[in-house]
Amino acid sequence: MSPTGCVILAAGEGIRLKSKTPKALQPLCGKPLIRHVLDTIGQIETAPVVVVIGAGRQQMTALLQDYEVQVAHQPELLGTGHAVMCAQQALGDFSGDILVTCADIPLVRAATLQHLIDEHQRSEAAATILTTVCDDPTGYGRIVRNQQGLVQAIVEHKDADEQIRQINEINTSIYCFQTQPLFAALRSITPDNVQKEYYLTDVIPQLLAQQLPVAAVVAEDPEEVMGINTRAQQAAAEQLARQRVHQRLMAEGATLIDPPSTFIDDQVTIGRDTVIWPGAFILGNTQIGDDCTIGGHVLISNCQIGNGVQIKHCSVVTDSRVGDGVQIGPFAHIRDETTIQQQGRIGSFAEVVRSNLGPGTTDKHFSYLGDAEVGANVTVGAGAITCNYDGQTKHKTIIEDGAFVGSDAAIVAPVTIGKSAYIGAGSVITKDVPPGALALVRGQQENIEGWADQQKRRDTS
Ligand code: UD1
Ligand code: CA
Repeated sequence: MSPTGCVILAAGEGIRLKSKTPKALQPLCGKPLIRHVLDTIGQIETAPVVVVIGAGRQQMTALLQDYEVQVAHQPELLGTGHAVMCAQQALGDFSGDILVTCADIPLVRAATLQHLIDEHQRSEAAATILTTVCDDPTGYGRIVRNQQGLVQAIVEHKDADEQIRQINEINTSIYCFQTQPLFAALRSITPDNVQKEYYLTDVIPQLLAQQLPVAAVVAEDPEEVMGINTRAQQAAAEQLARQRVHQRLMAEGATLIDPPSTFIDDQVTIGRDTVIWPGAFILGNTQIGDDCTIGGHVLISNCQIGNGVQIKHCSVVTDSRVGDGVQIGPFAHIRDETTIQQQGRIGSFAEVVRSNLGPGTTDKHFSYLGDAEVGANVTVGAGAITCNYDGQTKHKTIIEDGAFVGSDAAIVAPVTIGKSAYIGAGSVITKDVPPGALALVRGQQENIEGWADQQKRRDTS
């Protein structure tokens, strides 16, 4: 078998999406389209892999550094045929077969690509087209076959007459080519069509004119080869991609109570016996351990969550780490590089920002901890807050192991509360508290005996 290289067409702007973001970088289940394609290509043996880029050049170049690929530039977007021509230099003296695919076909399975390559090599065709039959072929190039069923041409929707538009076998825009005939045929194509572009599809009649065999492989599942050109197609692909994520996670042992109302990004991993309630959003680079419960309408993004963690209804946890056995929420907000170590408890209406809370520390009712370094087994009372911002700069609060912060205390940073120290309820703390001390900052309580009766007498006299 000859070696197989790969060319990925990813230069397009995606004009039909009407977006500032170039198409290859559009997200699907939280991951840019081009990453979906590259991750799938990574599952089959292809080398070299050339990605043709144009729109969003800087961002694309940065992203592609994560992959073992060659980058080819398409200086002007003159069509898919022109894009492949731009890959020629990067392919160097490679002379095997070339798999051509596009950044806007993110759902194709590795097995489907491998089947196309295998069929192409078995039949020794100069070109093998991956086609599919779909209910609504609008917008796609149509596969025109002769009476013997052999492919004659691919006609773009915009160039097709009514009769050709009736054909519902379409070009997926995934192909296998023999290198030499491909580039020879590309030299002969012209932009003589409605879109004034150099179509890759026009190499097919060129090859046939040279008596070179052209084959087609029909993909059975039209959904996996759908192209993303419009926001509606993007939404449809998102649903399919999300279903695949659900299936993967359930196969790995997670319980999703209501998959259709659960939104989980592509890179997320979830351990066994973890239960996800309806309406949860689990996004970005998030890992969740075993035996956790993620409540309804919880949002978790870019977090590492340990085992046996409970994140209760309507909590938001972003860019943070949560240790084993922690309980968070309901209605808690943890964000910006916060760490809640094992067995911690964060209750309702508590916000924790850029802070590290030690093991067993509890902060259970409507409080705010910002820029705080909190030790182990600390109790933060209801309504206590760190005043970490002086209007210009943020300051650090240190609360050492075993300290007790009374309800409604305001801790004005920078300040240190020593080990096992106590802060009386309602205190405004502006100075360090030594270990083991009680800090109490309040007006003395005065009780005036009989005041209420005196008041009543005065009012009635
Ligand atoms: C293309 C095919 C069509 C097929 C459909 C399947 C052509 C002429 N048409 O149409 O037959 O049914 O895909 O989805 O090939 N690109 C570049 N440089 C360019 C133009 C495009 O890199 O100058 C890239 C795009 O980024 C995209 C891919 O090529 O990833 C396909 O281009 P697109 O404009 O989406 O082609 P379609 O109209 O979908
Ligand atoms: Ca397309």
